Amino acid sequence: MGSRETWATRLGFILAAIGSAVGLGNIWRFPFITAESGGAAFLVVYLLLVAFIGLPVMLVEFVIGRESKQNVVDAFPAIGYGNWKAIGVIGSITGFIILSYYSVVGGWVIQYILGSITGAYTGGAEAYFGQVSSGLNTAGFDLLFILLVAGVVGFGVRDGLERAAKLLVPSVVGLMLFLAVYAATLPGAAEGYAYYLSPNLATLRSDALAILPAAAGQAFFTLSTGVGVMITYGSYLDEDRSLLRDGFVIMLADTCIAVLAGLIVFPVFFAQGIAPGDGGIGATFVSLAGAFTTLPGGRLIGTVFFVILLLAALTSAFSILEVIVSFIIDTTGIERSAATAGSVAGIFVVGLPTAFDLKYLTVYDAIANNVLLLLGGLLLALFGGWVYATDAVTEFSKGLNAPQFVPKLWIWVLRVPVVVVLSYVLYQNIADVIQTIQTSLL
Ligand code: TRP
Repeated sequence: MGSRETWATRLGFILAAIGSAVGLGNIWRFPFITAESGGAAFLVVYLLLVAFIGLPVMLVEFVIGRESKQNVVDAFPAIGYGNWKAIGVIGSITGFIILSYYSVVGGWVIQYILGSITGAYTGGAEAYFGQVSSGLNTAGFDLLFILLVAGVVGFGVRDGLERAAKLLVPSVVGLMLFLAVYAATLPGAAEGYAYYLSPNLATLRSDALAILPAAAGQAFFTLSTGVGVMITYGSYLDEDRSLLRDGFVIMLADTCIAVLAGLIVFPVFFAQGIAPGDGGIGATFVSLAGAFTTLPGGRLIGTVFFVILLLAALTSAFSILEVIVSFIIDTTGIERSAATAGSVAGIFVVGLPTAFDLKYLTVYDAIANNVLLLLGGLLLALFGGWVYATDAVTEFSKGLNAPQFVPKLWIWVLRVPVVVVLSYVLYQNIADVIQTIQTSLL
C-alpha cells in the first residue's frame, strides 16, 4: 500500500473531482429541475443544501477515502467498520442505475453534436428533441456513449482524460460565459432573470418544504456525492491537504457552472415563449438548440458546445463506472477487463427502457437520484457523524489549518441538520416515487 500513487499536484486532484462533478447534472438536469420547481425559490433552497448538506457529506467521503486509501467497498473494512460496507453496495447499485440513463442522455448529446454539424434541428428544435430522445437511434447512441466510457476505464486512457479535464473546465466556462452574454441580449432576458434570480420571500417561506426533496436530490447528484465516487478520489490524497478547502473549491466550481447554465437557459426560455414549467426533461436541449438556430454562427458554436458537454459527461460517467467496476472486482474477483465488459452490458440492458420512452427515464431518475442517492447520503452522514466521528475528526484535522471548532462543527452539522433534512426528504421522495410509478407506469 505504501507505493499507492497520490495526485501529482493539488490541481490534478481538484480537476479530476471537478471533472466528475461537472456534467449533465449541471447543464441538463439543473436547469430543467429549477424550471419545474419554481425558479428562484428553488435556486435558494438548492444553494443552501449544496453548502450545508451536500458538502459535509462529500467531506465524509473524502475522509473515509484518505484514511482507508481504498475504493468504496474496501474502504469500510480498512478503517475497521466492515459492517458499514453496505454503503458501498448501495452506492454501486445506485451508480449502476444512474449510469444506465445518464448514458442515454449522453447519447442525446452525441446526436446534438451531429445535429449541429448537419443543421438538423434548425427550425425544429422541439421535433428534433422528440426524434433524439426515443427510438432505436437513442439506444444506438446510448451504446456508443457507454462504449466511450468503458474505453476510458478499460484501456487506461484515463491519463488522457485527466489532461482533457484541465482544458475542459476553462473551455466550458469560457463558452458558457459567451452564451450567457448572448442570452442577455435576447428580448425575454429580463423575464428570465426575474423567474430565475429574484425569489419571492413569501413563496420561499410557503414552498420551502415542497422544494426540499427535489433540491436535495439535485445537490447530491451534482456534487457526485452519495455513491462513493469521492471516497475513491479522496483515497489518492495526501495528508497535508486541507479536505475542507479542496471540497469547498470543488463545490464552488460546480455551483458556478450550474448557475451559469441557468443564466443561459432561462432567458432563452422566455425569449422562445416556453413557460418554464412546461419544458420538461428536454427543456435544456430544446432551448439551447433553438438558441443556436438563431445565433449567428450558431451551428459552429453549437457543435463546440455539445462536444464540450460530451467531454464533461464522459468524465462524470467515468467516475461512476469506476465505482461499479471496483465493486464487481472486489466481490467476484474477476479481471478488470471482464468486470468492465460485464458492467457495460448490464448498464446498457438495464437502461434500454429509458431509451424508448421518456417516462421510464423519469422513473429511473426518481428512484436512483431522489431515493437511493439520498439514502447513501443519509447513511454516510449517520456513519460519519455518529459512528466514525472520533476518527473522522482526527483524519479531517490533518492539513486542515482552521480553528479548533471547525471539525466539531462539521460533525454536529452531520449529526443533526443533515440527518434530519435527509430523513424528511427521503420520506417525501419515497411517497413521491410510488406516485410517479403509479401515474406514469401503471
Ligand atoms: N455529478 C455528475 C453530473 O452532475 C454526475 C455524477 C458523476 C454523479 N458521479 C456521480 C452523480 C456520482 C451521482 C453520484 O453530471
